[in-house]
Amino acid sequence: MILAAGLASCRKAPLVSCDAAQPLFAVYPFPVGVAINPAELSPSSEYQRLATQHFNSVTPENIFKPSYLHPEAGQYDWADADQLAAFCRAHNQRLHGHTLIWHQQLPGWMANFTGSPAAWEAMFRDHIQTICRHFQGQVSSWDVVNEAFAADGTLRSTIWSQHLGSSYLEKAFRYAHNADPDALLFYNDYDLESNPVKRRAVLAWLQTMQLRGVPVQGLGLQMHISIVSPENTQLAEALRDAQQTGLKLHLSEIDVAINPLGQAITPTPELLQRQADKLAFLVRTYRELPRAQQFGITFWGLSDGNTWQRSYYHRDDYPLLFDDNYQPKPAFCLLAHPR
Ligand code: G3I
Repeated sequence: MILAAGLASCRKAPLVSCDAAQPLFAVYPFPVGVAINPAELSPSSEYQRLATQHFNSVTPENIFKPSYLHPEAGQYDWADADQLAAFCRAHNQRLHGHTLIWHQQLPGWMANFTGSPAAWEAMFRDHIQTICRHFQGQVSSWDVVNEAFAADGTLRSTIWSQHLGSSYLEKAFRYAHNADPDALLFYNDYDLESNPVKRRAVLAWLQTMQLRGVPVQGLGLQMHISIVSPENTQLAEALRDAQQTGLKLHLSEIDVAINPLGQAITPTPELLQRQADKLAFLVRTYRELPRAQQFGITFWGLSDGNTWQRSYYHRDDYPLLFDDNYQPKPAFCLLAHPR
């Protein structure tokens, strides 16, 4: 038995210890994933050791996004992505592609594209299909469209909606399916657990897609949550609503902020325990879903030192399973040893 003990880190993480010998994914009947930044991978790193020991599913945090894969018109850069795909194969990890169509992290040429409606349609289709074909057999599933709905439940205005109309969503799924009929295709969005208006709009749209025979097999609920919000009752209600679709459900970008207001804080045992309890409730509730709908859960980063939240929100936060020194936190311990 290996006992992993967290040392007080330079970022003030309190001491915690639990048996971290068993892979986290072995505790659950569904895949447990992590968003990976390949720049952090190296055979001697703790990052790589933990990423391969505890997670059997991988989502590329950034490198499968359009600005990385398709930096110039008609030119694709596969090098980093292929390397990550090989890494996942070597470590028996499922690779979930994120993301084909989004309004962020677009290459300049795509954001500034001009042309006729037919030219837009061809650019959109070629982008989706070239990427799906390239990774056929290596990527099990795709976030085909990411964050297409606004907070009020209307379609977000993006280059895609402006130039292709609202049917771009449906077309994206059809094009992706034609290019890789075996890949599971997901719609992915945030705040679905905390904003019932947005959730209802997304679920209604998904129902329309299902009735129209559009090849969409899954819904990604990102789950960027905090110890303050949403309430557990809201989390349970969101999963109940999502279950009604019959689709596969992916908790696709989990992190639990302990400092949503951006105050000067230290990660006290009390805050980290609240984080663990919130996460444990979420995972327990997910576990109660029908097995066929459990695509899996994915953490949006491995350790607190890798979280997007610090740079994005310019705040100190500690939202992940491992601390800045790659030591397990109470949240990891509770998921690894559920009560
Ligand atoms: O790669 C450049 C690097 O060359 C440059 O030196 C550096 C300087 O800032 O920036 C680097 O790019 C950053 C990139 O992450 C890679 O680290 C971008 O500035 C930064 O904006 C980008 O942030 C990513 C963000 O999406 C973009 O919106 C986060 O890492 C990533 O975690 C985040 O992920 C999104 C999901 O895709 C969709 N759901 C929300 C989630 C969190 O925002």
